[in-house]
Amino acid sequence: MVRKIVKYPEPVLSQPGEPVTEFDDELRQLVADMFETMYSAQGIGLAAPQVGISKRLTVIDLSVGKEPKDKLVLINPEIISSEGKLYEEEGCLSFPDIRERVARAAKVRIRAQDEHGKWFEMDGEELLSRAFQHEIDHLNGILFIFRMSPLKRNLNLRKIRKLQSEGKW
Ligand code: NI
Repeated sequence: MVRKIVKYPEPVLSQPGEPVTEFDDELRQLVADMFETMYSAQGIGLAAPQVGISKRLTVIDLSVGKEPKDKLVLINPEIISSEGKLYEEEGCLSFPDIRERVARAAKVRIRAQDEHGKWFEMDGEELLSRAFQHEIDHLNGILFIFRMSPLKRNLNLRKIRKLQSEGKW
């Protein structure tokens, strides 16, 4: 089932998610729904707060559904090490049509649970590293607009307010 993606400034986006403790059919249904929702929006990452659920769960697929092996489910994820820096363009399904360059670590190693509760570690570089950091930020209530320079942030917040006043956001 495709769920509704909430947009900034929906309060759930700014709240830290609750840890996932039950690895049951309900959770696996939510994971399936999140992939379906992400693909329908042509995204490469989606965090549970973006579908209105304040839980520490995110799905990532850099191939947007083309490569089954690229499907990643990260539950209760955390970054355990990071190195380097990259300054590249980034977007977010909760900020339609806004793209801006954001500084992120070039490489990260994460630790997370899969949908059955099993812990694993994984390395990410470049776009995958960026997706890990962007999505884990969501689970901590941090939005990419707050990773931009103050100048870019204010320009984008002004643009959003204008779109809101025109009923286009
Ligand atoms: Ni996002």
